[in-house]
Amino acid sequence: MTDLSDIKDRSLYKNPAFSIDRRVDDLLARMNLEEKIYQLNQYTLGRNNNENNIGEAVKNIPAEIGSLIYFETTPELRNSVQKKAVEESRLGIPILFGYDVIHGFRTIYPISLGQAASWNPELVEDACGVAAQEAFTSGVNWTFSPMVDVARDGRWGRVSEGYGEDPYVNGVFAAASVRGYQGDTLSAKNKVAACLKHYVGYGASEAGRDYVPTEISKQTLWDTYLPPFEVGIKAGAATVMSAFNNISGIPASANYYTLTEILKKRWKHRGFVVSDWDAVKQLITQGLAANEKEAAWYAFSAGLEMDMTDNCYQKHLGKLVKEGKVSMEAIDDAVGRILRLKFELGLFENPYTEILPDDKRFLLPSSLNVAEQLAQESMVLLKNNKGVLPLKKGYKIAFIGPMANNRLHLLGSWSAHGNEKDVVSILDGIRKEKGFIKKNILFADGCGFDGNDQRGFAEAIRVAEQADIIIACLGEKKTWSGENASRSVIALPRIQEELLENLKKTGKPLVVLLSSGRPLDLSRIEPLADAMLEIWQPGITAGIAVAGILSGRYNPSGKLPITFPYTTGQIPIYYNHRKSGRTHQGKYQNITSEPLYSFGHGLSYTKFEYGTLKLSSSKIRRGDTLRAEIEVKNVGNYDGKETLLWFVADPFSSITRPVKELKYFEKKEIPAGESRIFTFDINLERDLGFVNEDGKRLLENGIFYIMVKDQKVKIELID
Ligand code: BGC
Repeated sequence: MTDLSDIKDRSLYKNPAFSIDRRVDDLLARMNLEEKIYQLNQYTLGRNNNENNIGEAVKNIPAEIGSLIYFETTPELRNSVQKKAVEESRLGIPILFGYDVIHGFRTIYPISLGQAASWNPELVEDACGVAAQEAFTSGVNWTFSPMVDVARDGRWGRVSEGYGEDPYVNGVFAAASVRGYQGDTLSAKNKVAACLKHYVGYGASEAGRDYVPTEISKQTLWDTYLPPFEVGIKAGAATVMSAFNNISGIPASANYYTLTEILKKRWKHRGFVVSDWDAVKQLITQGLAANEKEAAWYAFSAGLEMDMTDNCYQKHLGKLVKEGKVSMEAIDDAVGRILRLKFELGLFENPYTEILPDDKRFLLPSSLNVAEQLAQESMVLLKNNKGVLPLKKGYKIAFIGPMANNRLHLLGSWSAHGNEKDVVSILDGIRKEKGFIKKNILFADGCGFDGNDQRGFAEAIRVAEQADIIIACLGEKKTWSGENASRSVIALPRIQEELLENLKKTGKPLVVLLSSGRPLDLSRIEPLADAMLEIWQPGITAGIAVAGILSGRYNPSGKLPITFPYTTGQIPIYYNHRKSGRTHQGKYQNITSEPLYSFGHGLSYTKFEYGTLKLSSSKIRRGDTLRAEIEVKNVGNYDGKETLLWFVADPFSSITRPVKELKYFEKKEIPAGESRIFTFDINLERDLGFVNEDGKRLLENGIFYIMVKDQKVKIELID
């Protein structure tokens, strides 16, 4: 090995006293084309356990490679490869290590859809901070999260990975998670770079099938799919991942309009775009490029800087530069963006990860506490007839169903290095809950998650008959949602419904716990249930959080971030649709046209009474300030948290607007007997305006409604 330390030490780019821009320029000036192209590629390192991406052999890692996806939990392997980069490559450029840290690294907390149901961005920020700390201490500097794809089709498995059907909600949680991952400064210990994905429109997947083309008008692109990305970019997201979908003819990974016009030119993003896994090469199967070389040209020219895993850039960019099809200026811009992040992360100064024992990295008490808080705040009480919940102490309780004693499926998809053994099952949670006597907790599986084996039914009924109340624990396996996990119907498999029908015959009160990575079709379950609690996939503290809610130690405060249709056939169904010409007609003949549970639905053990919605003014002019206010009183017997969703409706507009749009939300704790004032400071441009199909913001005079719960107040914007 040649000792280059002497030369390196005198290099400007090695000196942190200089600005990052100068260091980038200096380093770029020293790099040859081959070294530059290496920076634009990402390979993998370690054992990949993601079944959608298996088949990728671990490659020989060149010391010059730009980035690696690091699949291991310990930093040793990563550090040894980093050493090669730092010491054996000519310029000693450190490698950027990325990984899918989606809802926790080892301390797995609820899936993103559940996080959104908490309506608590501060808590989500804390949880992402926990994930960042565990990832950082394991050798990861960059997470492929958050996913901010607005998704309105529960059949699509990836609804679990985003924050639901509303653009504003996705934006709020995009910003919260970026803050949680990145903190104030990227070079800080225990922080990682975030990646907004999948840019853009992936959630519009036709019929909920994954990877398929999407048909998105420019108006809808701007109205619905772009806003969360814009908010995430404003919050400082270091990187963006291009999506798999084809946007009305131009694939997202080769889309100059979205990748360059919007992201780089209008939003001035200075970070870089990484492709999704093999997405450059997939431009061939999508019918855009005839071969890998063309694919590399299309993607790179559109503004995609880093090629994840498929080697197209590695093999062809050099040739494209030599042929004059790609300019050196464009290469430098792309490489510069990647180097900038490496400098920002402090990788040149601190390329190695400190080796810490597991108990200093994982499952710290404070981390578990955040995970538990978030789990309980995410759970949504869908139904609670006659106050059947919380459970009465001293009751004999039968926990029946495939989820009752299960750990694995409570982790959800993309559970990184989450370990089934860390999960507190529902049964374990209730057994440990204060005030419940172990011998009063009965259990039977009843059936599996699917199939048609009813042999466990008899035992389940025998057990249920001994109890005062039945808690049926049903739901989806973790592999039923997430990537490449579309389902044609979103009802639970018949066997679980049949178990419930049999349990109903006992005449005992029936509570249904549902764990799922998507909204469910509950049309056959709901009529059987006295109470229903949607717990999503809550992560390792699942059982503790469920027990907290069942016992009344915690008053449920989650609300749905996505509509629960009455049946799958209603999909797509979402609250912020445009108006129809014939509101009295156009209904389904055979079922209701209303969803079973609307966006924002969620019950509490206490009762909140709403005062009168007041506005600071009813006639406003541009430049005015406007404030809406309402008092909410907790008139029930439990302390509780209430979330207010503030909507705006614009009844007549030159581009028609949805029936209503969420513009702000706030969650507050209200002790029993007390009241709190909720306020919404309305920014006229932001909250009453809208974008056209070129992304231009417009604000038109006329009537608007400010809406909260079942109240609405009219205002008028005048000259
Ligand atoms: C997924 C991405 C993920 C990437 C890397 C892809 O298959 O679509 O969400 O970040 O793999 O694992």
